[in-house]
Amino acid sequence: MILTGKARIAGVMGWPVGHSRSPRLHGFWLRQHGIDGAYVPLAVPPDRVEQAIRALPALGLRGCNVTVPHKEAALRAVDRLDPVAKRIGAVNTILVHEDGTLEGRNTDGFGFVENLREGAPGWRADAGPAVVLGAGGAARAILVALLEEGAPEIRLTNRTAARAEELAAEIGGPIRIVPWERRADALSGAALLVNTTTQGMTGQPALEIELSDLPATALVTDIVYTPLVTPLLAAAQARGNPVVDGIGMLLHQARPGFAVWFGLDPQVTPELRRFVLEGA
Ligand code: ATR
Repeated sequence: MILTGKARIAGVMGWPVGHSRSPRLHGFWLRQHGIDGAYVPLAVPPDRVEQAIRALPALGLRGCNVTVPHKEAALRAVDRLDPVAKRIGAVNTILVHEDGTLEGRNTDGFGFVENLREGAPGWRADAGPAVVLGAGGAARAILVALLEEGAPEIRLTNRTAARAEELAAEIGGPIRIVPWERRADALSGAALLVNTTTQGMTGQPALEIELSDLPATALVTDIVYTPLVTPLLAAAQARGNPVVDGIGMLLHQARPGFAVWFGLDPQVTPELRRFVLEGA
C-alpha cells in the first residue's frame, strides 16, 4: 500500500507487540477498502506507556488499540472514558478527538457478544445463568458485557478464589462465586459456559472440567483461539452442545476502532477469519 501525505494512521500499543494479530486484521480491511491509511505495531515498554499515549495527538495519529500489559495504564492516561471502559476498568481502544483530547473505550465485551451473535444466531444473554471460568483481564470485559446484555446470573469460578471475589465486588450485579473445585457443579441449568483461562491454549494443558451436568442446549465458548478448536470446545461438540470459537472476539472488538479511525464499519467475513488465523 502506497500512502499519501494525508494518510490516516492508527496502531496497536503493546509490550511485546510482535505477537499481535491486529496489524494484519486492520491491514486486511484497509486493503479491502482501498483506504489511504495504515495500522502499525507500536512497541511501547511499560514505563513509557503514558508518554506514548499522550503523544498520539502531537503525532497526528487517529488513535490506537491498547493490548497487554497496557490496558489498565491506558485507563489513567486518557482524558475521558466511556462508561463501559470505566466499568471494566481497562481501555483497549483510544480515540484522538479533533480538539486533541483522548477518549478511552473498551470494545472487548462488544467483541465477545458480537462473536456469539454471529456464531450462534438467536443467542441471548438473558436466556439463563452463565458460567465464567477465570478472573483475569478478559473475564472483566466478558462479565460486564454479559451483565449489560441482561444475564440473570453469573457463576464465576477461578483457581485463585480471591481474584474472583475481588472482581465480583468491583463489578457488582448478580455474580456468584463458585469454588474452583466445585466448578463442574456450577454447570447444572447453565445456558452459557465461557472459558477465559489460558488452559487449552497451545503449549498449555487442557482445561479440566466434567461437562456431564451441562444442559445439552448450553452454548460453549472459549476465548482461546490457538488452537481454534480447544479441548473444551471439542468435548462440548462431541456431546452435542452448540459451540463458538474464540477468534471472532478478536475480529469484532476491532470494528469500532476501525470505524472511527478510518470511516467505515468493516465486516467480519470467512476470508478475514482465514487471513488472520494464517498469520502467525
Ligand atoms: P489475562 O489477565 O490476560 O486474562 P491472566 O491474568 O494470566 O490473563 O489470567 C489467566 C486466567 O487463567 C486466570 O483466571 C488464571 O487463574 P488465576 O487467577 O488463578 O491465576 C487462569 N489460569 C492460568 N493457569 C491456570 C491453571 N493452571 N489452572 C486454572 N486456571 C488457570
